[in-house]
Amino acid sequence: MRTFGTRFAARMARPTGALELMADLGTAMARGGEADIRMLGGGNPARIAPVEAVYRRRLEEIAADPVQFGRFIAGYSAPEGDLGFREAVALSLCNEFGWPLTAGNVGLTSGSQSAFFFLFNLFAGERTDGGHSRILLPLAPEYIGYADVGLTPGMLLARPAAIRELDDGYFKYFVDFDRLDVPDDIGALCVSRPTNPSGNVLTIEELQRLDALARARRVPFIVDAAYGLPFPGIQHEHLDSLWNPNVVLCLSLSKLGLPAARTGIIVADESIIEALTAFNATAALAPPSTGPVIVEPLLRSGELTRLCRNHLRPHYLAQSAAAVQALRAACAGLPLRIHRPEGAFFLWLWFPGLPISSDELYRRLKQRDVLVLSGHHFFPGVEQDDPHQHECLRLSYAQPPESVRAGIAILAEEVRRAYEGG
Ligand SMILES: Cc1ncc(COP(=O)(O)O)c(C=O)c1O
Repeated sequence: MRTFGTRFAARMARPTGALELMADLGTAMARGGEADIRMLGGGNPARIAPVEAVYRRRLEEIAADPVQFGRFIAGYSAPEGDLGFREAVALSLCNEFGWPLTAGNVGLTSGSQSAFFFLFNLFAGERTDGGHSRILLPLAPEYIGYADVGLTPGMLLARPAAIRELDDGYFKYFVDFDRLDVPDDIGALCVSRPTNPSGNVLTIEELQRLDALARARRVPFIVDAAYGLPFPGIQHEHLDSLWNPNVVLCLSLSKLGLPAARTGIIVADESIIEALTAFNATAALAPPSTGPVIVEPLLRSGELTRLCRNHLRPHYLAQSAAAVQALRAACAGLPLRIHRPEGAFFLWLWFPGLPISSDELYRRLKQRDVLVLSGHHFFPGVEQDDPHQHECLRLSYAQPPESVRAGIAILAEEVRRAYEGG
Protein backbone atom coordinates (compact mmCIF):
# COMPACT_ATOMS: atom_id res chain seq x y z
CA MET A 1 0.00 0.00 0.00
CA ARG A 2 1.35 3.47 -0.90
CA THR A 3 2.53 5.65 2.00
CA PHE A 4 1.57 9.31 1.94
CA GLY A 5 3.70 10.59 4.78
CA THR A 6 0.86 12.23 6.70
CA ARG A 7 -0.46 11.28 10.14
CA PHE A 8 -3.95 11.22 8.68
CA ALA A 9 -2.94 8.62 6.10
CA ALA A 10 -1.10 6.60 8.73
CA ARG A 11 -4.34 6.40 10.74
CA MET A 12 -7.09 6.42 8.17
CA ALA A 13 -5.60 4.70 5.11
CA ARG A 14 -4.18 1.57 6.70
CA PRO A 15 -5.53 -1.98 6.65
CA THR A 16 -8.04 -2.54 9.47
CA GLY A 17 -10.53 -5.20 10.53
CA ALA A 18 -13.35 -3.07 9.12
CA LEU A 19 -11.55 -2.88 5.76
CA GLU A 20 -11.07 -6.66 5.69
CA LEU A 21 -14.73 -7.19 6.52
CA MET A 22 -16.05 -4.76 3.93
CA ALA A 23 -13.55 -5.92 1.27
CA ASP A 24 -14.69 -9.54 1.78
CA LEU A 25 -18.26 -8.38 1.45
CA GLY A 26 -17.53 -6.34 -1.69
CA THR A 27 -15.65 -9.20 -3.35
CA ALA A 28 -18.44 -11.62 -2.59
CA MET A 29 -21.05 -9.18 -3.94
CA ALA A 30 -18.95 -8.68 -7.08
CA ARG A 31 -19.04 -12.43 -7.65
CA GLY A 32 -22.75 -11.80 -8.07
CA GLY A 33 -24.25 -13.91 -5.34
CA GLU A 34 -22.62 -17.11 -6.63
CA ALA A 35 -24.37 -19.91 -4.82
CA ASP A 36 -21.13 -21.38 -3.50
CA ILE A 37 -20.07 -18.31 -1.49
CA ARG A 38 -21.47 -18.49 2.02
CA MET A 39 -21.53 -14.95 3.35
CA LEU A 40 -21.64 -15.46 7.08
CA GLY A 41 -19.22 -12.59 7.64
CA GLY A 42 -20.32 -9.00 7.05
CA GLY A 43 -23.21 -7.12 8.55
CA ASN A 44 -25.52 -7.11 5.55
CA PRO A 45 -29.13 -7.48 6.73
CA ALA A 46 -31.51 -10.13 5.40
CA ARG A 47 -33.66 -9.42 2.34
CA ILE A 48 -37.15 -9.87 3.74
CA ALA A 49 -39.79 -9.81 0.98
CA PRO A 50 -42.70 -8.12 2.81
CA VAL A 51 -40.34 -5.44 4.14
CA GLU A 52 -38.81 -4.78 0.72
CA ALA A 53 -42.34 -4.57 -0.74
CA VAL A 54 -43.01 -1.60 1.51
CA TYR A 55 -39.79 0.16 0.43
CA ARG A 56 -40.67 -0.46 -3.21
CA ARG A 57 -44.08 1.09 -2.63
CA ARG A 58 -42.44 4.09 -1.01
CA LEU A 59 -40.11 4.53 -4.00
CA GLU A 60 -43.13 4.61 -6.31
CA GLU A 61 -44.85 7.17 -4.10
CA ILE A 62 -41.69 9.30 -4.06
CA ALA A 63 -41.24 9.10 -7.83
CA ALA A 64 -44.83 10.25 -8.33
CA ASP A 65 -44.63 13.23 -5.96
CA PRO A 66 -42.47 16.24 -6.95
CA VAL A 67 -42.12 17.46 -3.36
CA GLN A 68 -40.92 14.13 -1.97
CA PHE A 69 -38.77 13.58 -5.06
CA GLY A 70 -37.11 16.94 -4.49
CA ARG A 71 -36.25 16.06 -0.89
CA PHE A 72 -35.22 12.53 -1.88
CA ILE A 73 -32.60 13.38 -4.44
CA ALA A 74 -32.77 16.87 -5.94
CA GLY A 75 -31.63 19.07 -3.05
CA TYR A 76 -29.12 19.15 -0.20
CA SER A 77 -30.67 18.81 3.23
CA ALA A 78 -29.69 21.06 6.12
CA PRO A 79 -26.31 19.98 7.53
CA GLU A 80 -28.01 18.38 10.55
CA GLY A 81 -30.19 16.31 8.19
CA ASP A 82 -33.73 16.32 6.78
CA LEU A 83 -36.00 18.26 9.14
CA GLY A 84 -39.21 16.27 8.60
CA PHE A 85 -37.48 13.01 9.41
CA ARG A 86 -35.71 14.43 12.46
CA GLU A 87 -39.06 15.66 13.77
CA ALA A 88 -40.60 12.24 13.11
CA VAL A 89 -37.78 10.48 14.99
CA ALA A 90 -38.14 12.83 17.97
CA LEU A 91 -41.92 12.40 18.03
CA SER A 92 -41.81 8.64 17.78
CA LEU A 93 -39.25 8.38 20.63
CA CYS A 94 -41.42 10.75 22.75
CA ASN A 95 -44.47 8.58 22.10
CA GLU A 96 -42.73 5.27 22.67
CA PHE A 97 -40.48 6.07 25.64
CA GLY A 98 -41.75 9.43 26.95
CA TRP A 99 -38.40 11.16 26.36
CA PRO A 100 -38.60 14.98 26.07
CA LEU A 101 -37.10 15.34 22.59
CA THR A 102 -37.42 17.77 19.70
CA ALA A 103 -35.81 17.79 16.26
CA GLY A 104 -32.99 19.77 17.91
CA ASN A 105 -31.96 16.56 19.70
CA VAL A 106 -31.70 14.58 16.48
CA GLY A 107 -28.91 14.78 13.89
CA LEU A 108 -28.17 12.60 10.87
CA THR A 109 -24.96 11.16 9.51
CA SER A 110 -23.98 9.21 6.44
CA GLY A 111 -24.43 5.84 8.17
CA SER A 112 -23.87 5.39 11.89
CA GLN A 113 -20.28 4.25 11.27
CA SER A 114 -19.48 7.87 10.48
CA ALA A 115 -21.40 8.91 13.59
CA PHE A 116 -18.82 6.96 15.61
CA PHE A 117 -15.98 8.61 13.73
CA PHE A 118 -17.46 11.98 14.73
CA LEU A 119 -18.39 11.08 18.33
CA PHE A 120 -15.18 9.29 19.30
CA ASN A 121 -13.04 12.13 17.97
CA LEU A 122 -15.36 14.72 19.53
CA PHE A 123 -15.05 13.24 23.01
CA ALA A 124 -11.55 11.75 22.96
CA GLY A 125 -8.10 12.19 21.45
CA GLU A 126 -5.70 15.11 21.68
CA ARG A 127 -7.08 17.85 23.90
CA THR A 128 -6.59 21.57 23.50
CA ASP A 129 -5.00 21.62 26.99
CA GLY A 130 -2.28 19.24 25.73
CA GLY A 131 -3.77 16.16 27.38
CA HIS A 132 -5.17 13.07 25.72
CA SER A 133 -8.41 11.23 26.43
CA ARG A 134 -9.86 7.85 25.57
CA ILE A 135 -13.16 6.08 25.01
CA LEU A 136 -13.99 3.32 27.50
CA LEU A 137 -15.71 0.18 26.19
CA PRO A 138 -16.94 -1.51 29.36
CA LEU A 139 -17.85 -4.84 27.77
CA ALA A 140 -15.41 -6.46 25.35
CA PRO A 141 -15.86 -8.17 22.91
CA GLU A 142 -17.31 -5.09 21.27
CA TYR A 143 -18.06 -3.85 17.74
CA ILE A 144 -15.14 -4.11 15.29
CA GLY A 145 -16.11 -0.79 13.71
CA TYR A 146 -15.04 1.17 16.82
CA ALA A 147 -11.49 -0.14 16.60
CA ASP A 148 -9.92 2.28 14.17
CA VAL A 149 -12.06 5.41 13.96
CA GLY A 150 -9.83 7.42 16.34
CA LEU A 151 -7.68 10.00 14.58
CA THR A 152 -5.06 9.48 17.27
CA PRO A 153 -3.71 6.04 18.17
CA GLY A 154 -4.58 4.39 21.49
CA MET A 155 -8.02 5.96 21.73
CA LEU A 156 -9.80 2.91 23.12
CA LEU A 157 -9.65 1.27 26.50
CA ALA A 158 -11.78 -1.85 26.84
CA ARG A 159 -12.59 -4.05 29.80
CA PRO A 160 -13.07 -7.77 29.13
CA ALA A 161 -16.49 -9.13 30.00
CA ALA A 162 -17.02 -11.59 32.81
CA ILE A 163 -18.00 -14.96 31.31
CA ARG A 164 -20.71 -17.13 32.79
CA GLU A 165 -21.40 -20.60 31.41
CA LEU A 166 -25.11 -21.40 31.13
CA ASP A 167 -27.04 -24.61 30.50
CA ASP A 168 -27.32 -26.20 27.03
CA GLY A 169 -23.86 -25.18 25.82
CA TYR A 170 -24.65 -21.47 26.04
CA PHE A 171 -22.57 -18.84 27.79
CA LYS A 172 -23.11 -15.15 28.46
CA TYR A 173 -21.00 -12.05 28.95
CA PHE A 174 -21.62 -9.61 31.79
CA VAL A 175 -20.13 -6.21 32.57
CA ASP A 176 -17.57 -6.91 35.29
CA PHE A 177 -18.64 -4.01 37.53
CA ASP A 178 -16.39 -5.17 40.39
CA ARG A 179 -13.35 -4.47 38.22
CA LEU A 180 -14.71 -1.59 36.17
CA ASP A 181 -12.77 1.53 37.05
CA VAL A 182 -13.15 4.66 34.94
CA PRO A 183 -9.69 6.24 34.67
CA ASP A 184 -9.35 10.04 34.74
CA ASP A 185 -8.56 10.27 31.04
CA ILE A 186 -11.85 8.78 29.86
CA GLY A 187 -13.84 11.12 27.59
CA ALA A 188 -16.91 8.90 27.06
CA LEU A 189 -18.22 5.38 27.65
CA CYS A 190 -19.67 3.39 24.76
CA VAL A 191 -21.62 0.14 24.38
CA SER A 192 -23.53 -1.49 21.56
CA ARG A 193 -26.94 -2.88 22.59
CA PRO A 194 -27.64 -5.51 21.28
CA THR A 195 -23.90 -6.10 21.26
CA ASN A 196 -22.20 -6.79 17.98
CA PRO A 197 -20.63 -9.44 17.93
CA SER A 198 -22.13 -11.46 20.80
CA GLY A 199 -25.85 -10.70 20.50
CA ASN A 200 -25.82 -9.81 24.21
CA VAL A 201 -28.44 -7.31 25.41
CA LEU A 202 -27.45 -5.27 28.46
CA THR A 203 -30.27 -4.83 30.97
CA ILE A 204 -31.65 -1.38 31.74
CA GLU A 205 -30.06 -1.64 35.21
CA GLU A 206 -26.66 -2.24 33.62
CA LEU A 207 -27.21 0.75 31.32
CA GLN A 208 -28.20 2.93 34.29
CA ARG A 209 -25.12 1.85 36.25
CA LEU A 210 -22.88 2.66 33.30
CA ASP A 211 -24.58 6.02 32.86
CA ALA A 212 -24.04 6.75 36.57
CA LEU A 213 -20.32 5.92 36.18
CA ALA A 214 -20.14 8.23 33.16
CA ARG A 215 -21.90 11.04 35.04
CA ALA A 216 -19.57 10.66 37.99
CA ARG A 217 -16.75 11.49 35.54
CA ARG A 218 -18.90 14.15 33.79
CA VAL A 219 -18.60 12.39 30.45
CA PRO A 220 -21.27 11.18 27.99
CA PHE A 221 -22.51 7.63 27.66
CA ILE A 222 -22.88 6.45 24.04
CA VAL A 223 -25.43 3.67 23.42
CA ASP A 224 -25.28 2.17 19.93
CA ALA A 225 -28.68 0.66 19.12
CA ALA A 226 -27.96 -0.19 15.46
CA TYR A 227 -29.88 -3.47 15.97
CA GLY A 228 -32.01 -2.32 18.88
CA LEU A 229 -35.04 -0.29 19.80
CA PRO A 230 -37.14 1.28 18.50
CA PHE A 231 -36.02 0.19 15.02
CA PRO A 232 -35.03 -2.31 13.67
CA GLY A 233 -35.94 -3.83 17.05
CA ILE A 234 -33.95 -7.05 16.60
CA GLN A 235 -33.85 -7.40 20.35
CA HIS A 236 -35.46 -10.39 22.00
CA GLU A 237 -34.80 -9.48 25.65
CA HIS A 238 -35.27 -6.38 27.81
CA LEU A 239 -37.58 -4.38 25.55
CA ASP A 240 -36.68 -1.00 27.01
CA SER A 241 -34.19 1.74 26.31
CA LEU A 242 -32.41 4.63 27.99
CA TRP A 243 -32.05 8.28 27.11
CA ASN A 244 -31.34 11.41 29.11
CA PRO A 245 -29.21 14.44 28.22
CA ASN A 246 -26.05 12.52 29.20
CA VAL A 247 -26.85 9.64 26.83
CA VAL A 248 -25.93 9.76 23.15
CA LEU A 249 -28.22 7.22 21.49
CA CYS A 250 -27.14 6.10 18.03
CA LEU A 251 -29.64 4.54 15.63
CA SER A 252 -29.37 3.46 12.01
CA LEU A 253 -31.63 2.61 9.09
CA SER A 254 -29.19 -0.05 7.86
CA LYS A 255 -30.46 -3.11 9.67
CA LEU A 256 -34.01 -2.27 8.58
CA GLY A 257 -32.83 -3.45 5.18
CA LEU A 258 -31.57 -0.08 3.92
CA PRO A 259 -27.77 -0.18 4.38
CA ALA A 260 -27.08 1.41 1.00
CA ALA A 261 -29.12 4.48 2.01
CA ARG A 262 -26.34 5.22 4.55
CA THR A 263 -28.40 6.82 7.31
CA GLY A 264 -27.19 7.11 10.88
CA ILE A 265 -29.15 8.96 13.57
CA ILE A 266 -27.72 10.59 16.69
CA VAL A 267 -30.14 11.43 19.52
CA ALA A 268 -28.37 13.64 22.01
CA ASP A 269 -28.22 16.90 23.89
CA GLU A 270 -28.63 19.86 21.54
CA SER A 271 -25.02 20.98 22.06
CA ILE A 272 -23.81 17.70 20.53
CA ILE A 273 -26.19 18.03 17.57
CA GLU A 274 -24.84 21.58 17.01
CA ALA A 275 -21.29 20.20 16.88
CA LEU A 276 -22.44 17.47 14.48
CA THR A 277 -24.09 20.07 12.25
CA ALA A 278 -20.80 21.94 11.89
CA PHE A 279 -18.87 18.71 11.28
CA ASN A 280 -21.34 17.54 8.60
CA ALA A 281 -21.23 20.88 6.80
CA THR A 282 -17.43 20.92 6.77
CA ALA A 283 -16.77 17.27 5.98
CA ALA A 284 -19.73 16.42 3.74
CA LEU A 285 -21.98 19.53 3.29
CA ALA A 286 -25.01 17.44 4.26
CA PRO A 287 -25.98 13.85 5.08
CA PRO A 288 -28.06 11.83 2.59
CA SER A 289 -31.85 12.31 2.56
CA THR A 290 -32.81 9.20 0.61
CA GLY A 291 -33.27 6.97 3.67
CA PRO A 292 -35.09 9.65 5.67
CA VAL A 293 -37.57 10.36 2.84
CA ILE A 294 -38.31 6.65 2.37
CA VAL A 295 -38.82 6.02 6.09
CA GLU A 296 -40.45 9.21 7.46
CA PRO A 297 -44.11 8.41 6.64
CA LEU A 298 -43.62 4.81 7.83
CA LEU A 299 -42.35 6.12 11.13
CA ARG A 300 -45.19 8.64 11.51
CA SER A 301 -47.95 6.17 10.65
CA GLY A 302 -46.69 3.33 12.85
CA GLU A 303 -46.13 1.09 9.80
CA LEU A 304 -42.41 0.86 10.61
CA THR A 305 -43.13 -0.41 14.11
CA ARG A 306 -45.43 -3.07 12.67
CA LEU A 307 -42.78 -4.10 10.12
CA CYS A 308 -40.25 -4.50 12.93
CA ARG A 309 -42.59 -6.42 15.23
CA ASN A 310 -44.33 -8.58 12.65
CA HIS A 311 -41.53 -9.28 10.19
CA LEU A 312 -37.98 -8.30 11.17
CA ARG A 313 -37.86 -9.56 14.72
CA PRO A 314 -39.67 -12.89 14.04
CA HIS A 315 -37.56 -13.45 10.92
CA TYR A 316 -34.28 -13.11 12.80
CA LEU A 317 -35.54 -15.10 15.79
CA ALA A 318 -36.42 -18.03 13.51
CA GLN A 319 -33.09 -17.76 11.63
CA SER A 320 -31.23 -17.72 14.94
CA ALA A 321 -32.98 -20.86 16.19
CA ALA A 322 -32.32 -22.67 12.90
CA ALA A 323 -28.63 -21.68 12.93
CA VAL A 324 -28.19 -22.85 16.53
CA GLN A 325 -29.82 -26.17 15.69
CA ALA A 326 -27.66 -26.65 12.58
CA LEU A 327 -24.49 -25.77 14.49
CA ARG A 328 -25.23 -28.14 17.33
CA ALA A 329 -25.93 -30.98 14.92
CA ALA A 330 -22.84 -30.28 12.79
CA CYS A 331 -20.53 -29.75 15.79
CA ALA A 332 -21.69 -32.78 17.80
CA GLY A 333 -18.80 -33.96 19.99
CA LEU A 334 -16.86 -30.67 19.64
CA PRO A 335 -16.47 -28.32 22.62
CA LEU A 336 -18.72 -25.65 21.06
CA ARG A 337 -20.14 -22.86 23.24
CA ILE A 338 -22.60 -20.32 21.83
CA HIS A 339 -23.26 -16.91 23.37
CA ARG A 340 -26.93 -16.76 24.33
CA PRO A 341 -28.56 -15.03 21.32
CA GLU A 342 -30.56 -12.10 22.69
CA GLY A 343 -30.56 -9.78 19.67
CA ALA A 344 -28.83 -8.63 16.44
CA PHE A 345 -28.21 -11.32 13.82
CA PHE A 346 -24.99 -13.03 14.78
CA LEU A 347 -24.00 -16.14 16.62
CA TRP A 348 -20.82 -15.74 18.62
CA LEU A 349 -19.08 -19.07 18.87
CA TRP A 350 -16.44 -20.01 21.39
CA PHE A 351 -14.29 -23.09 20.88
CA PRO A 352 -12.34 -23.45 24.16
CA GLY A 353 -8.82 -24.76 23.60
CA LEU A 354 -9.04 -24.37 19.81
CA PRO A 355 -5.61 -25.59 18.61
CA ILE A 356 -5.35 -22.97 15.82
CA SER A 357 -6.09 -19.24 16.12
CA SER A 358 -9.50 -18.00 15.09
CA ASP A 359 -7.71 -15.93 12.44
CA GLU A 360 -6.20 -19.09 10.92
CA LEU A 361 -9.64 -20.69 11.04
CA TYR A 362 -11.05 -17.61 9.25
CA ARG A 363 -8.42 -18.04 6.49
CA ARG A 364 -9.08 -21.75 6.09
CA LEU A 365 -12.79 -21.08 5.81
CA LYS A 366 -12.27 -18.28 3.31
CA GLN A 367 -10.34 -20.69 1.10
CA ARG A 368 -13.44 -22.83 1.10
CA ASP A 369 -15.69 -19.86 0.22
CA VAL A 370 -17.13 -19.50 3.71
CA LEU A 371 -16.82 -15.94 5.03
CA VAL A 372 -16.98 -15.47 8.80
CA LEU A 373 -15.22 -13.01 11.11
CA SER A 374 -12.37 -13.97 13.37
CA GLY A 375 -13.17 -13.09 16.97
CA HIS A 376 -9.80 -11.42 17.64
CA HIS A 377 -10.99 -8.27 15.83
CA PHE A 378 -13.59 -7.62 18.51
CA PHE A 379 -11.30 -6.86 21.43
CA PRO A 380 -10.07 -3.37 20.51
CA GLY A 381 -8.57 -1.59 23.50
CA VAL A 382 -8.24 -4.70 25.69
CA GLU A 383 -4.85 -4.39 27.37
CA GLN A 384 -4.05 -8.06 27.97
CA ASP A 385 -4.01 -10.80 25.40
CA ASP A 386 -6.00 -13.81 26.47
CA PRO A 387 -6.60 -17.19 24.73
CA HIS A 388 -10.36 -16.48 24.69
CA GLN A 389 -9.72 -13.67 22.18
CA HIS A 390 -8.40 -16.23 19.67
CA GLU A 391 -11.01 -18.94 20.23
CA CYS A 392 -14.13 -17.15 18.98
CA LEU A 393 -15.86 -16.57 15.65
CA ARG A 394 -18.73 -14.33 14.62
CA LEU A 395 -21.18 -15.88 12.25
CA SER A 396 -24.04 -13.96 10.65
CA TYR A 397 -27.30 -15.83 10.06
CA ALA A 398 -28.91 -13.07 7.98
CA GLN A 399 -28.36 -14.79 4.64
CA PRO A 400 -30.74 -17.45 3.21
CA PRO A 401 -31.03 -20.57 5.44
CA GLU A 402 -29.56 -22.96 2.86
CA SER A 403 -26.45 -20.80 2.58
CA VAL A 404 -26.11 -20.55 6.38
CA ARG A 405 -26.52 -24.34 6.74
CA ALA A 406 -23.95 -25.05 4.02
CA GLY A 407 -21.48 -22.65 5.65
CA ILE A 408 -22.03 -24.24 9.05
CA ALA A 409 -21.33 -27.72 7.65
CA ILE A 410 -17.96 -26.57 6.26
CA LEU A 411 -17.19 -24.65 9.47
CA ALA A 412 -17.78 -27.80 11.51
CA GLU A 413 -15.48 -29.80 9.22
CA GLU A 414 -12.67 -27.26 9.59
CA VAL A 415 -13.07 -26.99 13.36
CA ARG A 416 -13.06 -30.78 13.68
CA ARG A 417 -9.91 -30.97 11.53
CA ALA A 418 -8.25 -28.35 13.77
CA TYR A 419 -9.07 -30.21 16.99
CA GLU A 420 -7.82 -33.43 15.39
CA GLY A 421 -4.49 -31.72 14.78
CA GLY A 422 -4.90 -30.97 11.07
C1 LIG B 1 -23.05 -2.27 16.31
C2 LIG B 1 -22.99 -1.52 15.03
N1 LIG B 1 -22.95 -0.19 15.07
C3 LIG B 1 -22.88 0.53 13.96
C4 LIG B 1 -22.85 -0.06 12.71
C5 LIG B 1 -22.73 0.82 11.51
O1 LIG B 1 -23.83 0.72 10.67
P1 LIG B 1 -24.18 1.79 9.57
O2 LIG B 1 -22.96 2.65 9.34
O3 LIG B 1 -24.56 1.01 8.38
O4 LIG B 1 -25.31 2.62 10.13
C6 LIG B 1 -22.89 -1.44 12.60
C7 LIG B 1 -22.83 -2.11 11.27
O5 LIG B 1 -22.71 -3.29 11.13
C8 LIG B 1 -22.95 -2.19 13.79
O6 LIG B 1 -22.95 -3.52 13.75
